[in-house]
Amino acid sequence: MIGKLNHVAVVVPDLTAASAIYRDILGAKVSTPVDMPEHGVTTVFVELPNTKIELLQPLGDESPTSKFLHRNPNGGMHHVCYEVADIIAARDSLVAAGARVLGDAEPKIGAHNKPVLFLHPKDFCGTLIELEQI
Ligand code: CO
Repeated sequence: MIGKLNHVAVVVPDLTAASAIYRDILGAKVSTPVDMPEHGVTTVFVELPNTKIELLQPLGDESPTSKFLHRNPNGGMHHVCYEVADIIAARDSLVAAGARVLGDAEPKIGAHNKPVLFLHPKDFCGTLIELEQI
């Protein structure tokens, strides 16, 4: 069902500083920040030859990502995103297998303007999984 690794997401306390680390120290290509109010984050994408790193900074006090940063003040790995061909078919098959989809289980438009869903970390080896329809 899952295809390529689309990105690994890292929550950071300071997006400007994190962008500088990836751009100036690690020598990667880094995008400009984009606010995503409906997800409560500001995102920067780091382009790698085979995948992307998504840097996330909480946006607004209600951001679910703020809680993560309270537990991990220096930031840390937040989720992995796998590509799927049909997100509704993937969701239905996962739910039938007993997996929990976060929220109302309806795909939302993610950072690449494509439908995304998140799967409960307790059902997937302690890792928050994002599925993105390609
Ligand atoms: Co993501």
